[in-house]
Amino acid sequence: WYAGVHELRGMPWRKPYDSSLNRDGRAQRAYEVWVSEIMLQQTQVATVIPYYNRWMEKFPTIRDLASSDIETVNGLWKGLGYYSRAARLLSGAKKVVDEFNGRMPDNAKDMEAKIPGIGRYSAGAICSIAYNQCVPILDGNVNRLLSRVLALHASPKAKSTLDILWAAATSMIEGAERPGDINQALIELGSTVCKVREPLCEQCPLKPWCNAYSLSTREGKGNTSVE
Ligand code: ADE
Repeated sequence: WYAGVHELRGMPWRKPYDSSLNRDGRAQRAYEVWVSEIMLQQTQVATVIPYYNRWMEKFPTIRDLASSDIETVNGLWKGLGYYSRAARLLSGAKKVVDEFNGRMPDNAKDMEAKIPGIGRYSAGAICSIAYNQCVPILDGNVNRLLSRVLALHASPKAKSTLDILWAAATSMIEGAERPGDINQALIELGSTVCKVREPLCEQCPLKPWCNAYSLSTREGKGNTSVE
């Protein structure tokens, strides 16, 4: 099943969580997921795949990255845009090698506090996917998705809204057997089904629980858009 999903979507950073990996093996997975998440921050999946593959060929481990330089890194980034992302990966890798013996921290709190360039979203994505830890994520896509499910008529970036959405994301992940799958499913639902304009509600597995959907059908508007 898993191999099928991986093949179907063709994302090389999607490997099933492997509980038999030791601490170093898991830290290596964290590095791989980190690279993918930073590349995916402002860039579409299909564009990222070849860049990710070239990057991993050149820098298979965080030590390979840390011993490189900004020119080489920028060369590999050429065409992806937002070059500060590449610089942050490089300086983060140097810090992990210099101060943490080349091992990514083993939990989201330390990752966010100690690695420059890793915020709450990235720490959640990395730790849920690479470590199978139940930590939430909230990016623009998940923000929109959860805002609609809850029918939150609130400004999406206000602190009070973000607090509610992080709490909702946390409750969705609590007790999950495969939190990485749930987080990635939320991201994908947000980007491919719960789209900004004309969301594909009829295809959405969350339809039965979606307050924006039931409001829109009750009111006969056929419109689930949120501000
Ligand atoms: N966008 C950001 N992270 C992603 C992931 N892990 N899978 C698909 N799209 C993403």
